[in-house]
Amino acid sequence: MSAIFSISATSIYYFFRADLLKDQDERLQTLAQAAVPSLQTIKTKGTKDLNKDLPWRNLFDSQQSLEWFDADGKLIAREGTNFPNFPLAKSASTNRLNEGSPLVEQHGNIRSVSIAVYTDSLNKKILQLEGYIRVNESTKEFDQRMGQLQLGLEVGGVIVLTLSSVSGMFLTLLVIQPIKQSFQNLKQFTADASHELRNPLTVIMTTVELMESHSEQFSADDVRKFKTISTATQQIRHLVEDLRFLSHTDALTDTNVLDYPKVPLDEILQDLADTFETDAQNKKLSFESYLSTDIHIKGDTRQLKRLFANLLENAIKYSRTGGVVKLFLEKHKLFAVVRVEDTGIGIPQEYIPLVFQRFWRAETARLQAKEGLGLGLAIAQAIVQRHLGKITVSSKVGVGSCFQVHLPLA
Ligand SMILES: Nc1ncnc2c1ncn2[C@@H]1O[C@H](COP(=O)(O)OP(=O)(O)OP(=O)(O)O)[C@@H](O)[C@H]1O
Ligand SMILES: [Mg+2]
Repeated sequence: MSAIFSISATSIYYFFRADLLKDQDERLQTLAQAAVPSLQTIKTKGTKDLNKDLPWRNLFDSQQSLEWFDADGKLIAREGTNFPNFPLAKSASTNRLNEGSPLVEQHGNIRSVSIAVYTDSLNKKILQLEGYIRVNESTKEFDQRMGQLQLGLEVGGVIVLTLSSVSGMFLTLLVIQPIKQSFQNLKQFTADASHELRNPLTVIMTTVELMESHSEQFSADDVRKFKTISTATQQIRHLVEDLRFLSHTDALTDTNVLDYPKVPLDEILQDLADTFETDAQNKKLSFESYLSTDIHIKGDTRQLKRLFANLLENAIKYSRTGGVVKLFLEKHKLFAVVRVEDTGIGIPQEYIPLVFQRFWRAETARLQAKEGLGLGLAIAQAIVQRHLGKITVSSKVGVGSCFQVHLPLA
């Protein structure tokens, strides 16, 4: 935008300048033409009758001067103010003059137009050079006006750019507002729906549990159906809890980040390592943990367990038999750094920015593990954010993945 404006402003400036200079040159040339008859008068009678020679006087103004030269280029008379201190015309320019075209020169702040004056010789066939007339004009006023134009364009440019940026921002806000509002409504709906679904789900769960506890009163087929209802209800409850958790995180701002108590991260991870080692072995994977001791952070134990459980669950879920899952904990400057590495299916590079999006799952992941909603990493990221940390991922298809979490030390 500013580049376009600069180009337009520069073009306007140079267009005006060229136009004004052309006007000025034409005026000077007219004055020089008007002074042609007086050359003969000066050559024959000297300068005493010059003031009576009116045609050029009518055109003359205070910023200008007129000079008469003989055929050899020698100054023979001058009138006015602002005389240039350079000789008539030198070498190349004299040739041009003698060809009959006016010669325009600019020296400092004086602009000159010179013309050659010819008269018919006696036999009327050969033109004879009589002398030269040079008209000069100070360009100080012109330069001042051009300076004002430049300043006007610059100030105007700044005003136009400011106004267009402000109106651009205003329009963007105007356009974005409804989108923001509907996004906000969607978040609010998710928060409300997940809240409202909790009670009916609890009723279903307790009823099914009650029926299961009196299984002797029902047929074996009915009991199997209760089991199916119970599993499905559990899944819905998990989803509802996850959505509730994410809605709650969305509502948090930097100013209301919770102040958590100091917790031993090494012990939390050791507990998880014990649980997931068994899960890994069940899937014929080896599990290794390398945990530095005495590492404390400010956090919520339940959430931290959820965060690292989600990462370990993925590492196991997206690995094939014979793979290795590793869990590391170490201190790095002011942070506790946790790494979960696997030798699993990996994530294609172009999908890496998507993995933390809600409900996103890679096609290969769907084939490898049917179960999953695509919420585990979104929740992991939300927990990391609540703890003022950072989560990153690096991965290579067919080689494995590494999720790294930085959390500030207590
Ligand atoms: N360790 C990993 N190896 C390969 N792909 C992974 C790994 N972790 C995550 N992904 C990819 O990122 C997607 C999102 O992971 P996320 O944990 O959010 O969802 P999910 O595991 O599919 O389902 P769930 O909601 O049960 O966790 C996965 O579906 C998978 O494509
Ligand atoms: Mg997952």
